Amino acid sequence: MKILVLHGPNLNLLGRREPAVYGSNTLDQINAMLAELAAQLGVEVTCRQSNHEGELIDMLQQAVDADALVINPGAYTHTSLALRDAVAAVGIPTIEVHLSNIYAREEFRSKSVIAPVASGQISGLGVTGYLLALRAAVALAGA
Ligand code: DQA
Repeated sequence: MKILVLHGPNLNLLGRREPAVYGSNTLDQINAMLAELAAQLGVEVTCRQSNHEGELIDMLQQAVDADALVINPGAYTHTSLALRDAVAAVGIPTIEVHLSNIYAREEFRSKSVIAPVASGQISGLGVTGYLLALRAAVALAGA
């Protein structure tokens, strides 16, 4: 089973980006934790990051053999109808993840255009959210 993890804009700065909001782990550390969990679960995980909307869409379209998707779309969560359409078009089980609780912050963050086409969403649990999302993706892809 293959799981694609996509990280959106500014998540390459994790570790030094507003650590009080997003935590102190770097993206490399998060990806290493996901790889370790994937090995335990016996699945393959590929983690990719881009700051560019079209590039994220290309990565998604190219992942023709992925069985499920874990995505933190960053600020595109709130704006990108193109990314939403790509998630819907690819049509694999999708877990939307946010490190912070998007419902407890600025008003504009409480609207996700991705959520209606995702299987589910995890928000506010920090790195644990990514690990739970991977477990959920594996469960949904195997169901
Ligand atoms: C985020 C929340 C978004 O509102 C923000 O733009 C991000 C990160 C999160 O993981 O909490 O870049 O997706």
